Amino acid sequence: MENRHPEKAISVLLKEQRLYPPPASFVKSALVAGKAARERLQAAAHRSSDKFWDSAARELRWTRVWRKTLDWKPPFAKWFVGGRLNLADNCLDRHLDGPRRNKAAIIWEGEPGETRTITYLQLHREVCLFANALKELGVKKADRVAIYLPMVPEAAVAMLACSRIGAVHSVIFAGFSAEALRERIVDAGAKVVVTADGGWRKGAVVRLKDAVDEAVAGAPCVESVVILRRTGGDITVYEGRDHWWHRLTAKASCDCPAEPLDSEHPLFILYTSGSTGKPKGVLHTSAGYLVETAWTTRYVFDLRDTDVYWCTADVGWVTGHSYVVYGPLAVGSTIFMYEGAPLTPHPDRFWSMVERHRVSVFYTAPTAIRTFLRLGSDFPRRHDLSSLRLLGTVGEPINPEAWSWYRDVIGGGRCPIVDTWWQTETGAILISPLPGATPTKPGSATLPLPGIDADVVDKTGKPVPLGSGGYLVVRRPWPAMLRTIWGDDERYKREYWSHIPGLYFTGDGARRDKDGYFWILGRIDDVLNVAGHRLSTMEIESALVGHAFVAEAAVVGRPDEVLGQAVAAFVTLKGGRTPSPELKEELREHVAKAIGAIARPSEIRFTDSLPKTRSGKIMRRLLRELATGGAIKGDVTTLEDFAVLARLQQDEE
Ligand code: PRX
Repeated sequence: MENRHPEKAISVLLKEQRLYPPPASFVKSALVAGKAARERLQAAAHRSSDKFWDSAARELRWTRVWRKTLDWKPPFAKWFVGGRLNLADNCLDRHLDGPRRNKAAIIWEGEPGETRTITYLQLHREVCLFANALKELGVKKADRVAIYLPMVPEAAVAMLACSRIGAVHSVIFAGFSAEALRERIVDAGAKVVVTADGGWRKGAVVRLKDAVDEAVAGAPCVESVVILRRTGGDITVYEGRDHWWHRLTAKASCDCPAEPLDSEHPLFILYTSGSTGKPKGVLHTSAGYLVETAWTTRYVFDLRDTDVYWCTADVGWVTGHSYVVYGPLAVGSTIFMYEGAPLTPHPDRFWSMVERHRVSVFYTAPTAIRTFLRLGSDFPRRHDLSSLRLLGTVGEPINPEAWSWYRDVIGGGRCPIVDTWWQTETGAILISPLPGATPTKPGSATLPLPGIDADVVDKTGKPVPLGSGGYLVVRRPWPAMLRTIWGDDERYKREYWSHIPGLYFTGDGARRDKDGYFWILGRIDDVLNVAGHRLSTMEIESALVGHAFVAEAAVVGRPDEVLGQAVAAFVTLKGGRTPSPELKEELREHVAKAIGAIARPSEIRFTDSLPKTRSGKIMRRLLRELATGGAIKGDVTTLEDFAVLARLQQDEE
């Protein structure tokens, strides 16, 4: 991590004075209604967090009850020790004995406009068929299965089929390139890859199977590839290795008992960016993850059986795991799922779907809200959005202007907004309002949920005074926390538990205001947050340096009105290579090919050298200031060559 102290480096956010109490009409029937109810919950969790989580755990169906709530040998936690359950059983079978049996589990809309409704009973059958198909391919308990699918119901089916038989899924966002896919498949040692011929995005077909073919060519661990027919395009089918989904399931039995799994049985690996070039495989396990995702889904989104709940995240991200699939299905909700791009074929696509499917709870990212805000209020106003009763955001700080627009134009002023702070590593939401009980302030994720001991501290772990900036940490383990980094316990210790002694370090800077509310100030390590997605500066730099013409590269984030942060790259070329607009374009494409379109730099600047400290570290802070367009204000005493800075500034002019 660079020597950046949030106390100094992160300026305190503009003072937001507005306070919105939960709307009275919402409080009337909220699951947690009013301040006193919230404080009772907080107090109970504070008295005994074990008892608090025990009672949350009793909401699930267990095949064997746990002996001990938490076994904490820092930094390794085990939750619900000795217990056994199955996630698919909890998300599906459990609902089949009652009125949810024939209730819609998933209402889906494809980008071209077709719709499907799948009841809990039907989803259960699909999952059993696919679980047996996986077994047929030789998948056993603890084997890894990579899933590279568009947002179709089969993505949820594949995940649940894995958890039904105890296989470990690793979902890879379908926007990642073949190279990024290969790296993740190999790191996890996946035996099977589940994909589709393609998926629809912005009116065009994304050729997923081609990417899989390229990735698997460099991944000897893969024995089989399963292909879902989605777009019907031309693809190559490799005899012996490739299998059509529909053929496998046509032969399979629909009888597949859920495997009772130990509480700590690995559930999934999800790769995320850290401060080094190599993505980290965040490992989540079974019972604790489900207990907390189910609890937070119910109480943060105040979900009822009558709701139609839409979380717009892709299953390739953690939000798609916890709040599209596991949490909502565990509580028996109806999920709305959409395959494609938000503005296709028209900028009012989202609002048309809210109207037609009567979506009542809507959860999205600030970057999407800012996009809609810029398009103007006419598009949402063309639609009847009166079904909405609760709105949520996740992924990055939301600016007060976007927050107010969301509340007024989308929520009609009557819907509470839950600004939920969490991470791939936390598995579940940790800081968020309870919508019927926590007054909100635009731009603040408000307070830690019951059972969560979050704080803002200095480098030694001492809480900073209210109003000052510091490091966001969590003091005590929580059930859905990551257990380790796949295959790398040392990196797990180093990345999360070594920065501040004894505490989980989130990588975020934060400030608490006089009411104790948390304001997230953003990442303080070398991680960017582009459109709510985490990207490592090092990963993009190594992609750039992988190009034959590039000698050195430094990547920084610069503020962007829609994306939150945009990727800006400073590049020095090898001797004899000359900068050109074509080369800029080529380098941008090169990064997109190496990682995926989300990492494509918005801006590339050629320079003949980069500012470095005497010990040779690139001074990203200076580059950030340059990329942001401001003058260099900070301390430059450790800069090795002042002339570099002068030249960089000249380039700018
Ligand atoms: O910096 C914080 C930001 O997103 C990071 C986690 O990214 P990822 O693991 O990709 O998960 C995103 C979805 C859970 C955090 O370290 N972040 C997430 N939610 C918020 C946020 N920043 C401010 N406010 C939030 N509500």
